[in-house]
Amino acid sequence: MKIHDNVLSAIGNTPIVRLNKCVPRGNFPNSPNSRHEFFGKVEFFNPGGSVKDRIALSIIEDAERKGELKAGGTIVEATSGNTGVGLGLVGLLKGYKCVFVMPEKISEEKRAVLRAYGAKVIMTPTGLGPEDPNSHYGVARRIVAETPGAYLANQYHNPANVKVHYETTAPEIWNQMDGQIDVFVGGIGTGGTLSGVGRYFKEKNPNIKIVCADPHGSILYDLFYHKEVRTPPASYLVEGIGEDMLPDNVHFQYMDDFVQVTDQESFKACRDLAATEGLLVGPSCGAALAAAIKYSEKLTKPSKILVLFPDGGRSYLSKAFNEEWLKTQKIN
Ligand SMILES: Cc1ncc(COP(=O)(O)O)c(C=O)c1O
Repeated sequence: MKIHDNVLSAIGNTPIVRLNKCVPRGNFPNSPNSRHEFFGKVEFFNPGGSVKDRIALSIIEDAERKGELKAGGTIVEATSGNTGVGLGLVGLLKGYKCVFVMPEKISEEKRAVLRAYGAKVIMTPTGLGPEDPNSHYGVARRIVAETPGAYLANQYHNPANVKVHYETTAPEIWNQMDGQIDVFVGGIGTGGTLSGVGRYFKEKNPNIKIVCADPHGSILYDLFYHKEVRTPPASYLVEGIGEDMLPDNVHFQYMDDFVQVTDQESFKACRDLAATEGLLVGPSCGAALAAAIKYSEKLTKPSKILVLFPDGGRSYLSKAFNEEWLKTQKIN
């Protein structure tokens, strides 16, 4: 029988899909005759709907092995949504209580999913720094301190995050592409995906370029190129990527380039993916695609470019796929 004992073993092994229509075909300024190929690793096929299911399982099983999370315990996390969904799913099936703290800008759809899994959701004001006790990070820290048996998943700093991408996401891509890949593009939220996949690919072939899509307003671009923050952090609308602090899980040594993208570019690419490829994915996928296309313009030989699409578009129907909302945000 090929039956999953429960939904947790259905995490991972997501498909890679060739992008046919939403990407330019040749005529790049620096490489007029080149014809790059673009592919998407589509992570919404995970049971919780995002790449974060992978780290949820890895972080919780690591904590269980180390005895840091025991029966009857409570999983706590500051999360922009997807990690909460993954942890909610893992917590539900393994019998832990879950409490998630998130900024108000996160869509109502994402909060509703967490409640459906039986988790408690606490909202905090958007735009507070990580050291602020009222930020989602600060509130999560306080709940852990006050709750016996609580475990902070700590996705930004927990090495089990990078590890699972090194052990699953990257080898999956490597096998699916038969090792034929020139450029990997993704965003950084915690850094787990790019650091884990980056390390694996660099070990396999140091010529593979690891490229980060960074929203304008994030400080990562400055930190990567200048080792200091030159433009102060600013708010932007794409959820899940970009940073106003430097997580331990960001390992710059495996990365080659950072490409800045605007909300406008990210939301347009996101909508193009749905309208032309039938891939209803989230805005951070649009950001990654927009960065991949910009990056490809400076490549001088035909390249295979793999873009990681972290989540699906259904969580953003009231935003990215709503004309009225886009108008109020002045991004269409
Ligand atoms: C929607 C979305 N895209 C991208 C990412 C970035 O992935 P990572 O945390 O592995 O850097 C996240 C993570 O927070 C996310 O929620």
